[in-house]
Amino acid sequence: MALLIRPLALADLPAIEEIQRQNPTAAQWPPADYLGYQTLVAERDGEPAGFLAVLSIPPDEVEILNLAVATRFHRQGVGSALLDAAGGRVQFLDVRISNHAALSFYRRHGFQKCGHRRKYYSRPVEDAIMMRREMPR
Ligand SMILES: CC(C)(COP(=O)(O)OP(=O)(O)OC[C@H]1O[C@@H](n2cnc3c(N)ncnc32)[C@H](O)[C@@H]1OP(=O)(O)O)[C@@H](O)C(=O)NCCC(=O)NCCS
Repeated sequence: MALLIRPLALADLPAIEEIQRQNPTAAQWPPADYLGYQTLVAERDGEPAGFLAVLSIPPDEVEILNLAVATRFHRQGVGSALLDAAGGRVQFLDVRISNHAALSFYRRHGFQKCGHRRKYYSRPVEDAIMMRREMPR
């Protein structure tokens, strides 16, 4: 099955909302907010299968703001393809301490813990693990 990574388009917003809804551990933003960030969509056979939003911090850092894959496409390489397309030599992110799937996913991609933010999240209140990876030059 072909996987295409492309920038977010206005027409994707209902699909983004649905992917968020399927993934309560992802950040839940009003879909239009993604238009204000660098957001990539993974499209599988013409259907949005996942998305990734980043904040670029020149010259070479990228903060991953949100990443989610439609549940029926989990563990088929969609999240990995989005992460690989995120850019930046140094990538960092926050993840809920109870989000074992995401922690495992990020560790698999070479992220390491670089900090701990107590009660960082609300609804529900929870600590964040800060993670970072650096690409080889
Ligand atoms: C985390 C997430 C983006 C991963 O996307 P994905 O497309 O399923 O991941 P990939 O198929 O590219 O990578 C799979 C690898 O990641 C790890 N992984 C992914 N899901 C996992 C799980 N539920 N449990 C353990 N490891 C997991 C494994 O190493 C896995 O490799 P394997 O399938 O060979 O064992 C996806 O699970 C998701 O949308 N989660 C909900 C939203 C979320 O929590 N986002 C993170 C916000 S910080």
